[in-house]
Amino acid sequence: MPSAIAQISHASCPETSSISSAPRTLQLRTYLKPEPALYFGNKITDELASLLKKLDADCIYLVTNRVLMNLYGNTILEAIRRKGMKCNFVIIQDSEDNKNFRTLENLCESLVEQNVSKASVILGLGGGCLTNIAGLAAGLIFRGIRYVEMPTTLMGVTDSCLSNKQAVNGAHGKNHFGMYYAPAFILCDTHYLVSEPIAGKKAAMAEWIKNGLISDASLAGSFDFALQRPLEAWSELDFHDLAYRMICSKLKILEKDPSEKGSAVTLEYGHTFGHAIEFLSHGRIHHGVAVAKGMCIAAELACRLGYISRAIVDRHYHLLGTLLGLDLSIPQEIAVDDILSAMSSDNKKTLGGTKFVLLKRIGECLNPDGDYQVSVDPAVVRSVLTKYKECFAQRVA
Ligand SMILES: NC(=O)c1ccc[n+]([C@@H]2O[C@H](COP(=O)([O-])OP(=O)(O)OC[C@H]3O[C@@H](n4cnc5c(N)ncnc54)[C@H](O)[C@@H]3O)[C@@H](O)[C@H]2O)c1
Repeated sequence: MPSAIAQISHASCPETSSISSAPRTLQLRTYLKPEPALYFGNKITDELASLLKKLDADCIYLVTNRVLMNLYGNTILEAIRRKGMKCNFVIIQDSEDNKNFRTLENLCESLVEQNVSKASVILGLGGGCLTNIAGLAAGLIFRGIRYVEMPTTLMGVTDSCLSNKQAVNGAHGKNHFGMYYAPAFILCDTHYLVSEPIAGKKAAMAEWIKNGLISDASLAGSFDFALQRPLEAWSELDFHDLAYRMICSKLKILEKDPSEKGSAVTLEYGHTFGHAIEFLSHGRIHHGVAVAKGMCIAAELACRLGYISRAIVDRHYHLLGTLLGLDLSIPQEIAVDDILSAMSSDNKKTLGGTKFVLLKRIGECLNPDGDYQVSVDPAVVRSVLTKYKECFAQRVA
């Protein structure tokens, strides 16, 4: 571990509003199994080459997209080569519509053509889409070569890198093909968030709001204050502090259930509806925005079933719609039947049919069967979804 890096556990992690005075690079615990090292800081990419050097690779293969290559990739390549390591790169198309087998196969084959070996390291630099594809390629090539993840979006830094989950979409739905594959380490440099468009950051913040709604009433109560200033006015360090708080909100959940098979299943709140809507939009609706819609529909469902009050549903609309400014409607061209059909192939479906993570109250989820999911009559799901779509359509008309 480079001397500039301070190791901390999440016990000292959360309730501070600013970590600007903390050591420049923090090593955080992720609690995942296996547990990758997670380095977090602002303008810390100069630590990367030293960390990579320890992996003693025959070659580092940087995988990124054209825009990020020009913004950051070339500098990274130079820094790695300056440290005496061999480094090649592969550019891929990383939009949601390209998060599929074709892109994955092309990437794997280009790496093999470039002589990737068991001793090589793949370095994924990008948002959640890109790192999901690069991580899956690393898991597949020669049955697994080492992977280093460098997320460049707020979603990547605070959510997707904290899962070991790598996947691509299939013809019938999101993330149908993938595996758990842990990176050797994750380096989160919040400096990259400067160039991420505000829309992507807002979408990522929907997952933060989710973490409060499912697990922490006090966090859920703090959003009004946190979001009172328009994001356009936030500085680089404001987003750095925010990223830290967002990471901590997820780590608190993972610490209790690192396997994500028990209480951490609640992280999927809003995702069953959300994934279907995201998939059917062919990438036009950002993952976080689709999850925000999914949470509101899940809240309507819980309210219809008598589990939560109308006030809690309205709290969803206030936080995600009014405060964060996300569009919570379902586009006209996405039919309820298609959403139901996409949901029927959801990766969380079991023999008992599609189940839903639903709130019991703000900060707590229902857990009637011990798996933190609730079976719901499909006719009720259809009815809630149809009414939800119509209500928004009428508001616009
Ligand atoms: N594995 C997991 O557990 C997990 C969790 C959450 C989300 N995800 C996945 O992550 C994806 C969404 O990720 P995302 O929100 O990072 O979006 P994204 O990866 O789709 O990136 C959005 C756009 O931002 C661009 N971009 C990325 N970083 C940038 C930067 N610093 N400056 C300028 N442009 C930049 C990308 O090139 C892309 O065009 C979805 O596919 C979702 O399924 C996975």
